[in-house]
Amino acid sequence: MSQIEEEKVLAAKFALERIPSDARVVGLGSGSTVAAFVRELAKSDIARRLTFVPASSQIEEEALAAGLRLSDLDHVEAVDFTVDGADEVDPELNLLKGGGGALTREKILAVHSDLYVIIADHTKPVEALCSRHPLPVEVVKFGRSHTAELLAEALDGEVALRKTRFGIPFITDNGNYILDVKLKEPISDPEATLNQLKSIPGVVEVGLFVGLADEVYVAEGREVRVLTP
Ligand code: 5RP
Repeated sequence: MSQIEEEKVLAAKFALERIPSDARVVGLGSGSTVAAFVRELAKSDIARRLTFVPASSQIEEEALAAGLRLSDLDHVEAVDFTVDGADEVDPELNLLKGGGGALTREKILAVHSDLYVIIADHTKPVEALCSRHPLPVEVVKFGRSHTAELLAEALDGEVALRKTRFGIPFITDNGNYILDVKLKEPISDPEATLNQLKSIPGVVEVGLFVGLADEVYVAEGREVRVLTP
C-alpha cells in the first residue's frame, strides 16, 4: 500500500472513532478516501446500529458491497454525521470538491448534516483553493458550450468538458455535465467566486464548499491532525 493509501485508511479509522455515540444516521460523501471509510465501517460493530445516506452511485455501490444499511436523504429526519473527502482544503477549511463529479449531492448532504467532517491524506491542504486542481462546475446539458464561454470569461481560465476514460462526456448522477475550469491563479476569495459562478444560468453547482466543514482530519504519516475553523 502506498503512503497516501495508508494515510487514507488512517484518516478513515480516525473518523470511525469520532462518530457520536448517539448518532443514528451517517452520511457518506464520495471518492476513494470515503471508500476506505466504508471498508473500515464494514469491519466494525458500530455500523450495525446505523443507517447510511450515500451521496453518489459510486459510494452507494461500495456501501452495498460492505453490507451497510442504506436510506436516502428524503427518508431520514436528520443526518447526524457525514464523512466526506476533498481535493483541496484551505486554511479556513473551505474545500475544493468534485474530483469524482459528485459535488452537487455532496453539498446537499453537507448542508443537511449536523456535523460535516472531511478525511484527507497529507496532499490535500493548500494555501489557496485551485492551487493544484481545476475547478469542477456541474452544468445542465442544454447550451453547455455557451455556459462554458461565460465561465471562461468570469474566471479568465480554460474550460474543458470532463470526459470518461472511454473519451465520452462524463455524466453526473443528476444527468448533467462537469466543466473543469483551469485557472491561471489560485482563488483568493472562494465565497465571491462561488456567488459569481452560481449566478450564471446553466450552472447547477460549483465545487467550492465555503464554510461547510466542521472538522478536517488530515493524516500525515502515522499522525492525524484535527483542523477546525
Ligand atoms: C467527489 C469528491 C471527492 O471527495 C474528492 O474528489 C476526493 O476524492 P479522493 O478521496 O478519491 O481523493 O469531491 O466529488
